[in-house]
Amino acid sequence: MSTGLSTARATVDGKEPALLSEGEVRSHFPALDRMHAGERVAYFDGPGGTQVPRAVGEAMTSYLYEHNANTYWEYPSSAETDAAILASRETLADFFNATAEEIAFGANMTTLTFHLARAIGRRLSAGDEIVVTELDHHANIAPWTALARERNISIRSVRMIPETGQLDWDHLEQQITPRTRVLAIGAASNALGTITDVRRAGELAHAVGALVFVDAVHYAAHSPVDVKLWNCDFAACSAYKFYGPHIGILYGKRDRLADLDVPKLDPAPDNAPDRMETGTQNHEGIVGAGAAVDWIASVSAGKDNRRARIVSALQGLHARSQPLFANLWEALSALPRLHVFGPPPNAPRTHTVSFVVDGVPAVEVVRSLAKRGIFATHGDFYATTIIERLGQAENGVVRAGLACYTTEDELNRLIAGIEEIASR
Ligand SMILES: Cc1ncc(COP(=O)(O)O)c(C=O)c1O
Repeated sequence: MSTGLSTARATVDGKEPALLSEGEVRSHFPALDRMHAGERVAYFDGPGGTQVPRAVGEAMTSYLYEHNANTYWEYPSSAETDAAILASRETLADFFNATAEEIAFGANMTTLTFHLARAIGRRLSAGDEIVVTELDHHANIAPWTALARERNISIRSVRMIPETGQLDWDHLEQQITPRTRVLAIGAASNALGTITDVRRAGELAHAVGALVFVDAVHYAAHSPVDVKLWNCDFAACSAYKFYGPHIGILYGKRDRLADLDVPKLDPAPDNAPDRMETGTQNHEGIVGAGAAVDWIASVSAGKDNRRARIVSALQGLHARSQPLFANLWEALSALPRLHVFGPPPNAPRTHTVSFVVDGVPAVEVVRSLAKRGIFATHGDFYATTIIERLGQAENGVVRAGLACYTTEDELNRLIAGIEEIASR
């Protein structure tokens, strides 16, 4: 299936640059042509969902128009569907640094996590403990607390440090006990951008025989997910956060997936990973998720394999936006009525920032920005505990995230807009 992807790069001194240029990256996103209030729209809403390159839309349309069928039948479009799903599993396996049998698709991360929690819970009993963290999105808290209610399991929650926006590691060590059965932890906070060392946390949990589940939803758009490095048992992310369509992806270590007591209908396949997938899948979404990963890989000029190109593209894009993010942080921190939350730019973090303007509700800030064609988000983003711990539960915070298509000019417009709001 053609993705219609153009990967032409300008040469510099006869050599291909390591990454597509900023202009080339932007030329792939039709949404960047949108005008609002006489301004070209600047999208800072990536942590809520990024824009989509043309190749993703084309791959999905091509699937629906030319190959659309149900699976496992003996005619060409059905066989093509089987092949397309397998190809996407292989592509997502490269994204996670896993194998295709370890990749399952589902509606979104939240639904997949509820399903996984239920399966794990069937083998837990009263007195067992699950460790969650205050730094997590509630999609990685609610499935576990629901399980705890149903099976009389205890939840132990690891504190965050409001001043730094980081996890309290001493508290994590205290919360993991010989009764811990699961550690559910996020690789990056969608509210603050904090990146957490999930490998280190996982080692602590594995030492007491617990399973480790990593929420990689926010992390995946900014840094290469590496389940081998993390040595986690399960991880999940969502393609709409990394330039793809609205679909979730679950990684499970091969033996763990095979061993789960998954709630499923009797005639459905019992082999991993299919046993994690209930009913007919979102075929076009699966194809789109694969196309999104292929698009990310195409940003890197390397001749290496796809995994290596995914890694170099994400690392290269992060390095490219580092000075922009540092400028944003510095400009916002200098404003007298503004409070910026989370770790500073030189700490492990994504390029997502949250802040409040004294005396101006977050919703008013984003409304004012939208009038300038600047799209940012407000609220608690379901990272409800973080926002409570920051004392901002009533008004929420404003969140601005940099993506691969963010330019210095857009950033200057954002800073000017916030300065104007804060000076009223
Ligand atoms: C860190 C994080 N985890 C989980 C989720 C939930 O993902 P989904 O919308 O795919 O259920 C989100 C969505 O914003 C998120 O940012």
